[in-house]
Amino acid sequence: MPGIVIVGTQWGDEAKGKITDFLAKDADCVVRYNGGANAGHTVVVDGKTYKFHLIPSGVLHGKKVYIGNGVVVDPDVLIDELETLRREGFQPDLHISDRAHVVFDFHKLEDGLQERFKGNLRAGTTRRGIGPAYSDKAARFGIRTADLLDEEVLRSKLNMLLGLKQKIFNKVYGEDVRFNNKKIFEKALQFGKAISNYVCDVSSEINEALDEGKIVIFEGAQGTLLDIDHGIYPYGTSSNTIAGGACTGVGVGPKRIDKVVGVMKAYTSRVGTGPVPTELKNDIGERIREKGKEYGTTTGRPRRVGWLDLVPVKYSIRVNDIDNLVITKLDVLSGINPLKICVKYKCEDIIIDTIPSDIRTFEKCEPIYEELEGWRDNVDWRKIARKGYEALPEEAKEYLQRIENYLKVPISIISVGPERRETIVLNRIFESKK
Ligand code: IMP
Repeated sequence: MPGIVIVGTQWGDEAKGKITDFLAKDADCVVRYNGGANAGHTVVVDGKTYKFHLIPSGVLHGKKVYIGNGVVVDPDVLIDELETLRREGFQPDLHISDRAHVVFDFHKLEDGLQERFKGNLRAGTTRRGIGPAYSDKAARFGIRTADLLDEEVLRSKLNMLLGLKQKIFNKVYGEDVRFNNKKIFEKALQFGKAISNYVCDVSSEINEALDEGKIVIFEGAQGTLLDIDHGIYPYGTSSNTIAGGACTGVGVGPKRIDKVVGVMKAYTSRVGTGPVPTELKNDIGERIREKGKEYGTTTGRPRRVGWLDLVPVKYSIRVNDIDNLVITKLDVLSGINPLKICVKYKCEDIIIDTIPSDIRTFEKCEPIYEELEGWRDNVDWRKIARKGYEALPEEAKEYLQRIENYLKVPISIISVGPERRETIVLNRIFESKK
């Protein structure tokens, strides 16, 4: 022990990558438990930016990094990330679950076709084939990394899957595509060879690490509101993004998790479709988007931004049982006055402070705001990060205190810039063994 889960409390893009990297310094291993190349985790070290879609963020510290069974693996992206890391002088100590499913090119094509078919109910996916890959997994058509290592198994499973997809593409979507089964098979086999040394029983290795007292970080991708069960259905992703996903997505029991760390941005952002009650479609929104560089790491799409909405975060604290909060991008709000925080929704004549399960009700929710004094624009955040919490502008402290009072969970880390050193630690989330 201990096992620490890092989970997004909003719609993803809360800067979990930076926080995972920051905490990974004192950990032994980092394991991804959900999602695939739809995720985009950015880490900035000494002015250099690293973007990961699949490889866990702890890799830059030279830690053991694992891809759990709950992740869907895109071969092209994984190979590309490994090559990039090697070029940069890193030797990733990577382990991939033999039970993780593989994303094929036809999944990406199917993703786009499904979105077209859904019309208004489309989620605005990243087109990375995530939904189709998880659907095949649930329907028991999927191909796991272990299958890539056995030519005969791969051939028979792939032929069956391609037979099915061929019919769906032609007859359901009316697409005139003809799969080259041999080419797809060869590519999959090649990928299997390239990763064969990394494929292992990740559940067994992580349980062993925990038995030995190692510190394991379970790195979540996306955010709670994108969770397949607890998110804003059907506008989310296809995996369990919540902390519980760490157990199923790695193969550890719930008692293995000692701490759940919720990461929240100081405002709201969302990429993709679906209601966002506090969305700002004005100059303030534009200012936040530009200052916060709110463009999708995976797709480059401009993110929708809005005032901080505490209702989803409160909901997130419940479904994840969050022990500690990390607030990121506080610096982005500098110079905006006043600041607004949504504390409840007015839904027709009813006041609520949770996320309704029914999308039509959620669409009708209007934010009820509290106003707070903003702080000045010209703040030297690096200096503040060096000096610590007390050096923050008084108004920023009040903003944080209001959040803490409302959520009743301690804020343990504040991030005031993309760099590792632009981070203020208020209380340690776990004790380093060094
Ligand atoms: P998918 O995961 O590509 O199927 O996309 C489903 C929904 O989740 C879309 O609205 C995406 O924009 C959103 N989404 C998926 N991954 C991320 C992420 O890493 N950050 C933020 N939004 C995401």
